[in-house]
Amino acid sequence: MARIGFAYNQKPDDEEARTGDDEPRAEEEPPSSSRKRLSRNDSAPRVAGAIQPPVTSRRSSSDDEFAEWDSNETISAVEHALSSLGEVIRLEASVNFPERLRAERPDIVFNMAEGLRGVNRESHVPAMCEFFGIPYSGSDPFTLSLCLDKARAKECLAYHGIPTAPFQLVHDASSHSGALRFPVFVKPVHEGSSKGITERNYCRTPSEMREQVAFLLDRYRQPVLIEEFLTGAEFTCAVLGNGGDAHVLPIVGMNFDVLPSGSLPVYGFEAKWLWDRPEQPLEIFECPARIDEALRCTIERVVLAAYHVLGCRDWSRIDVRLDAAGVPNVVEVNPLPGILPDPADNSCFPKAARAAGMSYDELIQTCVRHAADRQGVSLPSNAARRRRTSVARAAASS
Ligand SMILES: Nc1ncnc2c1ncn2[C@@H]1O[C@H](COP(=O)(O)OP(=O)(O)O)[C@@H](O)[C@H]1O
Ligand SMILES: [Mg+2]
Repeated sequence: MARIGFAYNQKPDDEEARTGDDEPRAEEEPPSSSRKRLSRNDSAPRVAGAIQPPVTSRRSSSDDEFAEWDSNETISAVEHALSSLGEVIRLEASVNFPERLRAERPDIVFNMAEGLRGVNRESHVPAMCEFFGIPYSGSDPFTLSLCLDKARAKECLAYHGIPTAPFQLVHDASSHSGALRFPVFVKPVHEGSSKGITERNYCRTPSEMREQVAFLLDRYRQPVLIEEFLTGAEFTCAVLGNGGDAHVLPIVGMNFDVLPSGSLPVYGFEAKWLWDRPEQPLEIFECPARIDEALRCTIERVVLAAYHVLGCRDWSRIDVRLDAAGVPNVVEVNPLPGILPDPADNSCFPKAARAAGMSYDELIQTCVRHAADRQGVSLPSNAARRRRTSVARAAASS
């Protein structure tokens, strides 16, 4: 029987234990999490009619010690899915992860750990697996770090001719070269989950931009990415597989019409954390997106090119937005996609999988199988597994 390590970071049950680290973390998918976090974000301060994210970015070691990422619900659901393929060994990616990994030496690790700290945090678990020579699922440490640096990822995309909005990375508010066309959209370079992304990041003029860049630099303590604003429709695309077999699941489209009137067409902090409420869910996603065949093919082509160029493996979720000419541009690549199990939680990867006819369990198992195939790890086939289960059932009932 295969021994499957399962690497994850778990949120504390008592969210107050997070001692003020109350911002969404990079890989959470807010519509679900918002259900649990609404009360905190309700009190987000409003500045000049727009909302700023609540608290400054701090990744002090003490905060990060407790900043766990996935809920017990998600971890249990993934564990359940993995258990069909072998014996699951939980390996929480906390400080004793290296020793546990070395001692357990699973046949393969399913990695969904977001990491504890630093801009290379997502790479730590895969790097340790590589160090000990243990196969693991998903992208390698380099790809995970590359994608967590939105500017470096865009440089790579641009070099390979994959459309992405023209951009500049700034370390101080006055260093903008003036080469970009307004309006622009600004964001912290190393964050996700709408951290630091509000309507105020949409800047019509150089002075608006300088003001917001200064604010983000001060608040998030990291360089700020300035991009030309992509005015067209937005999509997010789940990709599964490797090499020539990598394919895009049904595309998820965003319907910005459901946002409050007068708001900007941006899937940012307000949409994810304030306007999506359990009592009034924001029906912003449509899957499959209602687009014609030609656009679907073009988006898929761009997405798969980005997936390959950035070295993604097994799975990833890629955000895309059309520019004024209707060309799909890559906004960002998420090699550790959010996978909340409850359909009510609006998590885009499982949503796309469901539209493709895959259950949650099948999605997780498919990802692990891609990883296993790549690395020559043998897992039981679905048929063998079913046979064994029915034999065991028959034995138990006789
Ligand atoms: N250049 C851009 N043009 C238009 N909208 C953008 C641009 N960059 C980001 N956005 C909007 O901001 C949202 C969040 O940006 P993204 O880089 O995906 O951050 P996150 O990592 O928080 O998901 C996007 O889904 C999109 O709606
Ligand atoms: Mg995004």
